[in-house]
Amino acid sequence: MEKVNNGLETIAFGGNTFPEDYGVKMDFTLPGGFLFGVSYSADQTEGGDVDSSWNDWYRKGKIKDGSDPAKCVDHWKRWKEDADLMKELGVKVCRMGLQWARIEPKEGEFDEKVIDRYREEIQYIKSLGIKPLVTIHHFGNPMWFEEKGGFLKDENLDLFLDYGKYMAERLGDIVSEWLTINEPSVYAFRGYLGYDCPPGHDSRDEYYTVLSNLCYCHVVLSQAIHIQREEMGYTDTMVSVPNHLRVFEPKNPSSLYHRFCTNSVKKAFQTAAQKALLTGEYTWPLKNRHKVQRGEFADFLAVNYYSRSTVSSMADGTREDCYRNDLGWEIYPEGITEVCKEAYEILPRPIWITENGTCDNAGVFRNRFIAEHLEQIAKSGLPVERYYHWCFTDNFEWLEGMSAKFGLVKVDPKTHERTPKAAFDFYKALIEKNGVDKEVYDMYIKNQHYLKKKIEF
Ligand code: BGC
Repeated sequence: MEKVNNGLETIAFGGNTFPEDYGVKMDFTLPGGFLFGVSYSADQTEGGDVDSSWNDWYRKGKIKDGSDPAKCVDHWKRWKEDADLMKELGVKVCRMGLQWARIEPKEGEFDEKVIDRYREEIQYIKSLGIKPLVTIHHFGNPMWFEEKGGFLKDENLDLFLDYGKYMAERLGDIVSEWLTINEPSVYAFRGYLGYDCPPGHDSRDEYYTVLSNLCYCHVVLSQAIHIQREEMGYTDTMVSVPNHLRVFEPKNPSSLYHRFCTNSVKKAFQTAAQKALLTGEYTWPLKNRHKVQRGEFADFLAVNYYSRSTVSSMADGTREDCYRNDLGWEIYPEGITEVCKEAYEILPRPIWITENGTCDNAGVFRNRFIAEHLEQIAKSGLPVERYYHWCFTDNFEWLEGMSAKFGLVKVDPKTHERTPKAAFDFYKALIEKNGVDKEVYDMYIKNQHYLKKKIEF
């Protein structure tokens, strides 16, 4: 066994030892016009004493390491510094978020100062030559909405839609690219099927209802954003919905039961939602509760990709003999194009990877992870146009708090001081070269290794 620089043991795997036996001769270029970006969300970075469902979850003692989202990254105050760092990195696009609880602290009362502050940030980002892609909802709700029953109650859906439409109206003159609701299936699953995220319910029926409702909300909102901007005279609107897409495989491919479970879990978590969100086709287990007409509800495919699931029961699972990130998620670069192909078959549209990245606290494999995923994209021939790395800075990683680090920029949880990591230099070089050549490989990737252990936070 060999020790890598964070002191953890790496384990020989599949007859191979690293780093020599990776067998990867990495040398690739992305197509001309390919855009690199970074991605972050409001609830995970802004901080501040906002009455949101995640601040409430923290107050209920649910965050594993006790991190307080109110004190997380302080992006609300340091947004300019972060924008300048993005400029230094060389990205041409960024995915940012809006915090609903901050914008509408009481039902029907929009805080215009907050909206003006978002306008200032967006205009500044644009002045740096970076195009923003704005997410309207990314897991967090205002507590007044949560207390009314959130997306579980049909009568609440207009409250969310009013907020989304109002943001399209207020920002439509400076924002042309939008994401409606981040990862509807993850939000519905983790919050409503026993996954310990707010509101912490455990009901299969509720999961299906919430997911069906979110699909409806995306369809309505995506059309409303188009209409709003058309009325303003703009014809360049791009709207989509970021889906968390995984590869699903049976643990034992010759087991009928494993194959049955794989298909069922995949449909319930992924395929049905994809179809309903992108085309309005509702299939098991979703119900077309609001009579959505069939159509095409995405101008591009927004793909969030992290890992593969290995299934042997009606639940998620991870294979034993695999490379893992610090949270135990399998690292499976081939999957990024497998999920893109599946999405493209449902609705053929340009593909933007709106999240891809990894939890690597010691910074020993992040560059390799990014490069191997981009290499798959470069080789695929698929119309992938953009890659937004998740995350720009270290952030509040929901239940894991500030302990799980996904950023290119380190954030000191106490002082909030920003320090670009080695991965920042790597990503900058990657952007400059529009890919990886021998020089980039030797300098930033060659000596990076994956680990086999999940780190207990
Ligand atoms: C979410 C992010 C999260 C990331 C890493 C995605 O599912 O959209 O908010 O931080 O995964 O866990």
